[in-house]
Amino acid sequence: MIHGGRLKVDPGRKGAALRILVVGSGGREHALCWAIAASPLCDKLFCAPGNPGIAQDAELVPIGAMELDKLVAFARDQRIDLVVVGPETPLVAGLVDKLEDAGIKAFGPRKGAAALEGSKGFTKDFCARHKIPTAAYQRFDTVEPALAYIRQKGAPIVVKADGLAAGKGVTVARTVAEAEAAAKDALVGGRFGSAGASVVVEEFLEGEIASFFALVDGVEALPLMTVQDHKAVGDGETGPNTGGMGAYAPVAAMTDAMAKRVMDEIVRPTVAAMAREGNPFKGVLFTELMLTRDGPKLIEFNVRFGDPECQVMMMRLKSDLLPALIAACDGELKDFDLRWHPDAVLSVVMAAEGYPDTPKAGGAIRGIERAEALDGVKVFHAGTKRDAAGTLVAAGGRVLNVTARSAGVKAAQALAYRAVDLIDFKEGFCRRDIGWRAVGRS
Ligand code: AMP
Ligand code: GLY
Repeated sequence: MIHGGRLKVDPGRKGAALRILVVGSGGREHALCWAIAASPLCDKLFCAPGNPGIAQDAELVPIGAMELDKLVAFARDQRIDLVVVGPETPLVAGLVDKLEDAGIKAFGPRKGAAALEGSKGFTKDFCARHKIPTAAYQRFDTVEPALAYIRQKGAPIVVKADGLAAGKGVTVARTVAEAEAAAKDALVGGRFGSAGASVVVEEFLEGEIASFFALVDGVEALPLMTVQDHKAVGDGETGPNTGGMGAYAPVAAMTDAMAKRVMDEIVRPTVAAMAREGNPFKGVLFTELMLTRDGPKLIEFNVRFGDPECQVMMMRLKSDLLPALIAACDGELKDFDLRWHPDAVLSVVMAAEGYPDTPKAGGAIRGIERAEALDGVKVFHAGTKRDAAGTLVAAGGRVLNVTARSAGVKAAQALAYRAVDLIDFKEGFCRRDIGWRAVGRS
């Protein structure tokens, strides 16, 4: 028994010397590789395409996350036992279908189930069919009816591109004019390409935001953790939305009673209905919630680990991650149990100047070793590369995830910022208030 879970391994292979491929190149994938590399069950770990931080834990493979056929061929040639898909784009494009059809075990949903993230309209209609609590909404693919609906409902109101838009497709409009502009940009201006050819206009929800993660095997859902992300680029939740500027756990607002409601009212009904509709979901179901006065309401589903929420989860995980991922693939999550550090974990994103609009590439980064010399600190690479001279430089919007574990959110926050201050990244910046809801503002 491994932490209560049963591990199935290929009977043709001795013991559990597993060969694993992780797909992706961000901080989330670094955290996954770091956790998987620590598993005694892992014999060989590859990451495609990975980054210089991941290279410390895995052998990098120069195949992009969207080169689906090349990934399948690599997994077949290398006799990979399990492929763990990090980002949403290959999931929505059907990477898991291709892998499974080639007889390769893959962690993550098939394309049909990935629509829970790939199409907001699909998800809203699904919620309506199954009475899953979410904001009231309408879908539009032409502009005039969208504008009429916006005027009728008034502001604040939320306009969302239907498809994947790298976290930028949502406008929380404070005025009717702002909402109208967002609908026009998507439906007429083509701002999000085909992802914005259809929009959802929905009710503005008030409350505290939280990300709830569950591992799902098609039938059973095992709650993992609640993490709070910080989407806005600036301190005090100002400026444009990003993929996430920092995260922490535990989240006080997610009481046991609230978590039970999330499981009973949102997660379990979703898993059951997806299976009934012939679209069973397996992988990580990432439920973004608004904790409103009327209880938890779904903002959106994602079909993968959050980034940077995953980094927080992996640093709190005491159990071996690998058996849990395999149990999710094998439909064996029933009675599975995972153990977590009681300590808090907080992760600060160091981003490149100009993020999210025009992040500056090439800024030199030094001092990660100094930061990691602090007890309880791990720096995950999110967007880095080595330049011709071998210097570590920024190569993305979000560059580093400085992650700290300590007793309580306040101590974890202090430790994370001590580590940040030891890193020399002149063309980078970070928010200084990650975790403010838990520790207050100084
Ligand atoms: P999403 O890309 O759906 O996660 O939305 C980005 C951000 O917009 C969320 O993290 C929320 O802060 C906010 N948001 C989305 N939908 C709503 C809503 N219906 N009411 C209030 N805020 C929302
Ligand atoms: N941090 C939010 C996300 O991964 O979508």
